[in-house]
Amino acid sequence: MILLDHVTKIYPGDKKPALDDVSLHIEPNEFVFLVGKSGAGKSTLMKMITKEEDPDTGKIIIGGIDLDYVKRRHIPHYRRRLGVVFQDFKLLPRRTVYENVAFALEIAGMSTREIKHTVPKVLELVGLADQANKFPSQLSGGQQQRVSIARSVARQPKILIADEPTGNLDKLTRTEIITLLQKINDFGTTVLVTTHDETIVNNLNKRVITLKAGRVVADQKTNGIYRLDGDPEILIDDRPKAPGFALEKEKIVSAKPAKKPAIKKPRAPKKKVA
Ligand SMILES: Nc1ncnc2c1ncn2[C@@H]1O[C@H](COP(=O)(O)OP(=O)(O)OP(=O)(O)O)[C@@H](O)[C@H]1O
Ligand SMILES: [Mg+2]
Repeated sequence: MILLDHVTKIYPGDKKPALDDVSLHIEPNEFVFLVGKSGAGKSTLMKMITKEEDPDTGKIIIGGIDLDYVKRRHIPHYRRRLGVVFQDFKLLPRRTVYENVAFALEIAGMSTREIKHTVPKVLELVGLADQANKFPSQLSGGQQQRVSIARSVARQPKILIADEPTGNLDKLTRTEIITLLQKINDFGTTVLVTTHDETIVNNLNKRVITLKAGRVVADQKTNGIYRLDGDPEILIDDRPKAPGFALEKEKIVSAKPAKKPAIKKPRAPKKKVA
């Protein structure tokens, strides 16, 4: 569902990579926390998925789409397949709760009739049925984040990514938002969440991937706990053995190549740290 194969990204002007040879495979319907210190590369990884940034090397396949072949002008169309939630909500201030959700569906080309049918259902799902006519400024932070989530999931994306969705919220509200994301995951959406919230991560027993200085230093497939460093016991040893190894698992749907992708030489598997 989400596949990164030896992805490296160095921002112009930076010496160190923001992502350094990152390989990941997230299966359909997984719920994954992405953790790491500030600057570890979490947001950069999210931007790889949304194609806000392109990798310097490596391959990214999202929901069967090889991002190498998504042309600039098709990026907005590609993004509509994803649900994206941000720390700062990014709501339209002059539109009501209802209109914020309806607008997202309108852009996606949904008919007025379908929109009228869908919006109340989605607001019900996120617990905001009674707030439909309020403007964002009349809502609490947690409620605003619910609107943002409603907007993201209204089109029923297969993948929802959330970059610190609870960063601006108090403790209780943080838990409520994560519970909502879990509910969305239960309906069959793959969810990837970055967070600095140790308590939430430790209470949920989900898969936890740790980034450190742009590298994946731990990938706890189940019952993950919040950790900022690698641990020899849980250091990943299931990276793709060579480029293309993991790609075979994912059905690749793409248009004709815009340019020939660089083919990298196979490299020896990373050794486990003793
Ligand atoms: N647009 C940019 N231009 C240059 N360097 C950048 C840019 N965006 C991020 N970086 C650098 O890339 C590295 C990773 O940044 P990133 O924002 O991905 O970290 P993060 O893990 O999301 O951190 P935080 O927890 O603070 O959000 C950092 O060293 C950062 O300075
Ligand atoms: Mg970030």
